[in-house]
Order: sequence, then C-alpha cells, then structure tokens
Amino acid sequence: MTGLFITLEGPEGAGKSTNREYLAERLRAEGIEVLLTREPGGTPLAERIREVLLTPGDEQMNPDTELLLVFAARAQHLAEVIRPALARGAVVICDRFTDSTYAYQGGGRGLSLERIAALETFVQGDLRPDLTLVFDLPVEVGMARASARGRLDRFELETRVFFEAVRGAFLKRAEADPARYYLLDAAQPLTQVQQCIDALLPKLVERVRG
Ligand SMILES: Nc1ncnc2c1ncn2[C@@H]1O[C@H](COP(=O)(O)OP(=O)(O)O)[C@@H](O)[C@H]1O
Ligand SMILES: [Mg+2]
Repeated sequence: MTGLFITLEGPEGAGKSTNREYLAERLRAEGIEVLLTREPGGTPLAERIREVLLTPGDEQMNPDTELLLVFAARAQHLAEVIRPALARGAVVICDRFTDSTYAYQGGGRGLSLERIAALETFVQGDLRPDLTLVFDLPVEVGMARASARGRLDRFELETRVFFEAVRGAFLKRAEADPARYYLLDAAQPLTQVQQCIDALLPKLVERVRG
C-alpha cells in the first residue's frame, strides 16, 4: 500500500466538512487507513495559529502576516501529521490545503502567486496533493449556508467581491490541471454530490492498493 494525499477545497458552505466524513467512511469500509485532518490546523500548535487566523479582531491583519501564518501552521501540520501518515501508507484527507492559500490569499487578498509558490516549495518541498476535490457553488449559496451555521469567522465576514475572486481562483486551478483536480457541483443536493464521490471510489481504492 502507498499513501495517498487527498485535499478538499472550495468556499465556506460548500460541503467540504460534510463530505470529508463521507469519503473517509467509504474508504474505511474498504479496509483502508484514513487520517482525517484540516487546515489551518491539524496539530495543537497549528490549531492555535488557526484561532489567530479566524478570530475577528480590532487590529487589521496584514495580508503578508496572514500568508506567513497559514504556511507556518502548514509546516507544523506537515511535519507532525501529514508526512508521517503518508509514510506509513495511510490515505490523508485534508479539509483545505494550499489551494485555499492560492484562492484566499492570492485571489481574495491579491497577493502575488509567485510569492505563494515560493513559500509552497519552501514548506512542502515537492509534496503536492495526489487528488483535490473542488466543491464549487455560487457565492450567494455558500454565504447563505455559512451564515445559517452560526457566527461568522474573519474570512466569512468578507465581501461578495472577495468570494467571487476566491471562487474564480479555485476554478482556474482546477481547469489548469484536470489530472489532479476533480470539480464537483456543490450546489446539487447532498445525495447527488455523494454520488459523484462514489464514482471516484473504485479508482481511488485501486491507487491505494497499488
Ligand atoms: N449539497 C448540499 N446541499 C445542501 N446543504 C448542504 C450541502 N452540503 C452541505 N450542506 C450544508 O451546508 C452547511 C455547510 O456545510 P459544510 O460541510 O460545513 O461546508 P464547508 O465545510 O465547505 O464550509 C452545513 O449545514 C451542511 O449541512
Ligand atoms: Mg468546513
């Protein structure tokens, strides 16, 4: 068995957290070891950085500070959790990863993609996800789902223009590399989204069993 790194991406309210459980259960039913984790966060220290990133505050966070915090948390997460799990052959399912950095800090905040790419290489070396599921849906649908969920975090408080840029960045990345990205219409009813995930399973299981 070889490890497999799967990331789930998309805006708030797209169904990443709901479907990560679903995907994990389906793989576990095949007898595959699955490690479920999320970003920013995934270790106690990285979760503390997550709090800093998500909690609204009086002091405006500089976009470069935000970018560096995201990658600081990621360095910790990779070292403590993701790399060891992949090394022992587990499937790692991560709710958000570096595509979110390109979408939020790049698309949303307008930071240079070259700079993000440089940090990506610095922190990850040549590690990239094997498969990225992109949950795509219209901005207003995602915002409505996220609001219904409760108090909004520092990102969820952003404007519609910001979220349109985030969506556009995810779509652009997915379109540029169809071998790695699997684009899902997340506005469909949940059962249909899960049917799309089911369609992926045979190939995934085959890849893990090598
Ligand atoms: N396909 C869907 N149709 C309708 N509601 C959904 C769908 N997928 C998820 N939801 C609901 O939308 C909300 C946000 O889902 P969640 O999985 O937390 O999204 P994310 O983790 O991407 O922000 C939850 O209340 C969830 O039950
Ligand atoms: Mg979530």
